[in-house]
Amino acid sequence: MAFLFRLIQKCGLFTALVLLAVIVMLFPNDFRQIIKPVTSYSNDPLVVLVWNWPFLTNFTAGRDVCRDLYAIENCVLTCNKSMFDRASVVAFHHRELQINISDLPRGTRPPNQKWLWVSLESPSNTKRIRQLNGLFNWTMTYRKDSDIFIPYGSLMKRSQHTNVSIPKKSFLSTWVISNYQKKSRRAKVYFNLSKYMQIDIYGKSVKRYLAKKLLLPTISKYAFYLAFENSIHKDYITEKLWRNSFMAGSVPVVLGPPRVNYEEFVPSDSFIHVNDFPSEEKLAGFLKDLWQNRTRYEQYFNWRKHYTVKMHTDWTERFCTICTKFNSLPQSKIYDNLHDWFHK
Ligand SMILES: *[C@@H]1O[C@H](CO)[C@@H](O)[C@H](O)[C@H]1NC(C)=O
Ligand SMILES: *[C@@H]1O[C@H](CO)[C@@H](O)[C@H](O)[C@H]1NC(C)=O
Ligand SMILES: *[C@@H]1O[C@H](CO)[C@@H](O)[C@H](O)[C@H]1NC(C)=O
Ligand SMILES: *[C@@H]1O[C@H](CO)[C@@H](O)[C@H](O)[C@H]1NC(C)=O
Ligand SMILES: *[C@@H]1O[C@H](CO)[C@@H](O)[C@H](O)[C@H]1NC(C)=O
Ligand SMILES: *[C@@H]1O[C@H](CO)[C@@H](O)[C@H](O)[C@H]1NC(C)=O
Ligand SMILES: *[C@@H]1O[C@H](CO)[C@@H](O)[C@H](O)[C@H]1NC(C)=O
Repeated sequence: MAFLFRLIQKCGLFTALVLLAVIVMLFPNDFRQIIKPVTSYSNDPLVVLVWNWPFLTNFTAGRDVCRDLYAIENCVLTCNKSMFDRASVVAFHHRELQINISDLPRGTRPPNQKWLWVSLESPSNTKRIRQLNGLFNWTMTYRKDSDIFIPYGSLMKRSQHTNVSIPKKSFLSTWVISNYQKKSRRAKVYFNLSKYMQIDIYGKSVKRYLAKKLLLPTISKYAFYLAFENSIHKDYITEKLWRNSFMAGSVPVVLGPPRVNYEEFVPSDSFIHVNDFPSEEKLAGFLKDLWQNRTRYEQYFNWRKHYTVKMHTDWTERFCTICTKFNSLPQSKIYDNLHDWFHK
């Protein structure tokens, strides 16, 4: 308002109106957002159809699951493909789609229906995405710039500072790896590091299987955890950091996107980055010194006075967030080149 008055004062009413009209024409979406009614007039529930439930696990909850579990009203979550014509959003999980790319809805697509592309895998592990160019209106991925952002984990500010308890440490460092490939960068970094320091390795592929319920208790006995991502991409920070390191109470040594990208999600003193060292020998030296100085080691736990860690693992919860985000998502959007968007 103040802006409008100043404009009128400066250049007269007519010029001010012309200027305003030009601004509205240049930024129509912003103005539509401002004048749009907050609540929808219709009482028909929003229908969200999940075309292929992730990992082919069966979705058994009732149609009101979002209300029952998360108090989200007026939203039906369903896997019933007969609801296609009534769905406002159809969500496609890429992992199943890439197995059979022709498993897409047939027939005409209702006007205004939004197709949502869903994936938590990195571009390196995403196949046949080019064939999906021009199909989707929205994306839901671990990337911050997705229409719906679904990180693997997040930090929540504590309402009040608390004392931190650090699990008792008995060993230096560990790595749990389900898919060990000798030629991968992370395996090479591990191999080089292991020449200079003790690293206990667990996982199916190295024949030291760790049962799920032993995962966190085992890691928590180690001072450091190698949180090495399977591939390096912007924002691709997975449960290797959130669960295996943070939930276990072990200090992460990360291999992934650059430090600045990690710092968009977690405090700079909550992790050690492989790239901060010119060689594995230097990194190993740093870790061993840190381990010898309890005061310095404990500084990597200071952030926990202010934050708690939340893991996000529940697909029902993720799909229900579509209901709450629906009204604030862009109304006319098309991913003409989903491949390039995801690989950029
Ligand atoms: C899901 O349902 C299908 C068909 O009803 C059945 O064949 C399959 O075993 C079920 N899968 C799981 C994981 O329960
Ligand atoms: C799927 O939806 C159709 C149309 O609303 C309905 O007739 C059918 O009973 C539903 N099937 C299941 C298994 O709920
Ligand atoms: C792929 O999906 C299509 C359409 O649903 C189906 O007809 C076809 O049998 C599927 N192919 C495979 C290999 O599952
Ligand atoms: C934190 O630790 C200090 C010193 O041990 C103690 O005095 C204080 O009561 C503790 N605060 C909480 C919230 O536990
Ligand atoms: C591992 O060490 C070798 C020999 O020092 C070095 O050439 C190589 O670049 C290192 N590999 C990685 C991934 O850092
Ligand atoms: C341990 O680290 C602290 C903080 O950096 C430092 O003040 C102290 O001198 C170190 N202690 C030893 C024994 O090196
Ligand atoms: C959604 O995407 C489809 C396919 O590109 C497009 O035809 C349709 O117009 C888009 N819908 C909206 C509301 O923008």
